[in-house]
Amino acid sequence: MSGKGKTASVRLDRLLANLGYGSRREIQMLARAGAVVLDGTPLRDADQRIALDPGLPARLTVSGKPLDPPPGLALMLHKPLGVTCSHKEAGPLVYGLLPPRWRRREPPLSTVGRLDKETSGLLLLTDDGALLHRIISPKASVSKRYQVTLDRPLRGDEGAVFASGTLMLEGEEKPLLPVTLEVHGPTSAAVTLTEGRYHQVRRMFAAVGNHVTALHRDRVGALELPADLEPGQYRVMGEGDVARVFGVE
Ligand code: URA
Repeated sequence: MSGKGKTASVRLDRLLANLGYGSRREIQMLARAGAVVLDGTPLRDADQRIALDPGLPARLTVSGKPLDPPPGLALMLHKPLGVTCSHKEAGPLVYGLLPPRWRRREPPLSTVGRLDKETSGLLLLTDDGALLHRIISPKASVSKRYQVTLDRPLRGDEGAVFASGTLMLEGEEKPLLPVTLEVHGPTSAAVTLTEGRYHQVRRMFAAVGNHVTALHRDRVGALELPADLEPGQYRVMGEGDVARVFGVE
């Protein structure tokens, strides 16, 4: 995913151990038993190196099933309400929505930024640290769009306040960068922002005397949450999806 040209190679036992298939010793045994098959041929020696290319899952099976996606994995998840992105918050973690083996991957999958427990919508996860940093870097200015439901009707000046670049959130020293507001109804709107401050959308509406009752992220960059991705479901991102995060339509 980081776009390094050359295909790396890796020892088979290390590859499978890092994908969560077991200890290196368990993988040696799996291979010896003929359960690891490349292009139809059992790989009985787990010490051998194999080329790490994205096409590997189509060619390599483990116990008859295609190999899990190799490192460089990026996912889009439809985060449901009530699950958390961090151990710091109480409640089930988003990682519990993934196959158990994926929770043992090394490098681990991490969320790209966070959504609150009571926010639903498009959440990206990746094991590619360089990609993660490229997305969250202020330099990239990746936009995030949230659909907001409010407790009270909008006053009318919120769009101007959010766009001003002068709005200060309580307890902070730097004003927010401009945020776009699109009004859909008296108590519904969409906001598009490029920063990711703590509880930013909820605190922005609190700053203009309102209260967010529902929050849903439906777009990151130009990548939309697919309509057929149900809450709790995830999908492996292709190169086109990653490009869309950086604004390529
Ligand atoms: N702003 C919030 O207040 N919460 C989120 O989850 C995301 C943005």
